[in-house]
Amino acid sequence: MNNQNQLTLKDDELITAAAKARESAYAPYSHFRVGAALLDEKNRLFTGCNVENASYGATCCGERTAIFKAISTGSRKIRRLAIVCDQDEPCMPCGICRQVMAEFAAPDFELLAASPSGSFRRYTMTELLPDAFVLKGVDQ
Ligand code: THU
Repeated sequence: MNNQNQLTLKDDELITAAAKARESAYAPYSHFRVGAALLDEKNRLFTGCNVENASYGATCCGERTAIFKAISTGSRKIRRLAIVCDQDEPCMPCGICRQVMAEFAAPDFELLAASPSGSFRRYTMTELLPDAFVLKGVDQ
């Protein structure tokens, strides 16, 4: 389903895509799997999972995997992003992922922080990262 033009997915469909992406997580160190799914400015779907490394700091979170897949395929804005992890409560993104989201968040960006059972909370970019660091005057 990746990289295809999509009709706009409903929230629950985006969460289902994130939950499926979580199944591909490479997490032999933490055993904590994270899946993410996003829609870009053309409503294209991209998914990602966390990819860990024996050198722990080389790990990439699920959200950033999905974002980097999208941006490296030509996307420039993210409209909606869902996260699902292994805990049975809505999964919140780490600080580094919030900063990366802020770089590409569309004005109507929404984060869906979901649990595997499908319940979720909705956040705006400003709620996630108020007063985000940006460089003024940079063409994106
Ligand atoms: N992780 C994510 O994928 N996203 C986050 O926002 C927080 C943490 C991953 C990194 C690592 O593989 C595991 O969760 C435990 O920290």
